[in-house]
Amino acid sequence: MQVVKYVFQPHGDERGQLVALEEFRDIPFRIKRVYYMYDTVADVVRGHHAHKSLEQILICIHGSCKILLDNGLGEKKIIPLEKPYEGLYVSNDMWREMYDFSPDAVLMVLASELYDEADYIRDYGAFVAYARERAAGRE
Ligand code: TYD
Repeated sequence: MQVVKYVFQPHGDERGQLVALEEFRDIPFRIKRVYYMYDTVADVVRGHHAHKSLEQILICIHGSCKILLDNGLGEKKIIPLEKPYEGLYVSNDMWREMYDFSPDAVLMVLASELYDEADYIRDYGAFVAYARERAAGRE
């Protein structure tokens, strides 16, 4: 299971830091939606879903959090996000959970599609069945 983490180029000078993200240059898809989470309550776990087609880049632009990725085929990875210039690519077919938010965490997500509830897979058992079907189709 491959984890793709982008390290963006900060344009730093004596005034501070600036990161610019352009679709198809820094981000591998057209950015149709941006959303962010903040004031996340301690011990909360968000996410608990996969997608049928959505691609996303997660950037913890302030504070820190952890992302659990699960491919539904027995492989899981935990990726800490704690730098405002790092982005985690999350493909549609990954079950994701976001947790361990620091009190000051702001997790920003760049998404390839508009919000569409029909694109969500929110049942873990259904996700595992979906992942197995896709893997069998690739064999
Ligand atoms: P939810 O899917 O529960 O967030 P998470 O998966 O991060 O735990 O979303 C919380 C609420 O926000 C829910 O009512 C749907 C709404 N929402 C939107 O309206 N647009 C969006 O782009 C997203 C991600 C959520």
